Amino acid sequence: MTKIKIVAFTGSLRVKSYNMAALRAAAEMLPEGVSMEIVDLSPIPFFNEDVEAGGVPQVIVDFKEKLAEADAILISTPEYNYSIPPVLKNALDWASRGTKLPLSGKPLAIMSASPGIFGGARVQYHLRQVCVKLDLQTLNNPEVFITNANKKFDLDGNLIDDYTKRSIEKLLQTLINKVEYIQ
Ligand SMILES: Cc1cc2nc3c(=O)[nH]c(=O)nc-3n(C[C@H](O)[C@H](O)[C@H](O)COP(=O)(O)O)c2cc1C
Repeated sequence: MTKIKIVAFTGSLRVKSYNMAALRAAAEMLPEGVSMEIVDLSPIPFFNEDVEAGGVPQVIVDFKEKLAEADAILISTPEYNYSIPPVLKNALDWASRGTKLPLSGKPLAIMSASPGIFGGARVQYHLRQVCVKLDLQTLNNPEVFITNANKKFDLDGNLIDDYTKRSIEKLLQTLINKVEYIQ
């Protein structure tokens, strides 16, 4: 089997983030030959064209390099006021700049987790729209909305819900299939 590298990140900086917990759960269910790196977005500064003009910060150069090396991207994001959390949008804005677009053409899988009953469904549609501009190949199915997330993870952030586990597994497999189809 070919080696496949997934780079994953979340729009939440919360220590006990359900979305980060979902990414950790995903990292534990990968088939052989597939690896995942979860990238922490907290060191990424606010985008500012003046800063960019003065020289792109090393942390952004490194972030973009990681994205460029990935075969596929996985995002698990919270929904903030029906939309994309600033941490995530900011990281994507940095990734959209410059002549080398590290996300262009890459398969992307999206998940969202919320304690609410919609599981962050609305943020996914805003995020999809942004990903069109970034030229990502966002999977349409399966859609993974982790509803009532406070009941799906235990206090240590372990995923304890079988249906959610199966949904994430399916999403990962679809992402891997997409990478293999492209390669
Ligand atoms: C500024 C803000 C706006 C929010 N807006 C929504 C929302 O529109 N829909 C929703 O389901 N949850 C909303 N929430 C609640 C988040 O879903 C909840 O805080 C969730 O745990 C965040 O994800 P995390 O656990 O990965 O940090 C909001 C939270 C914050 C802080």
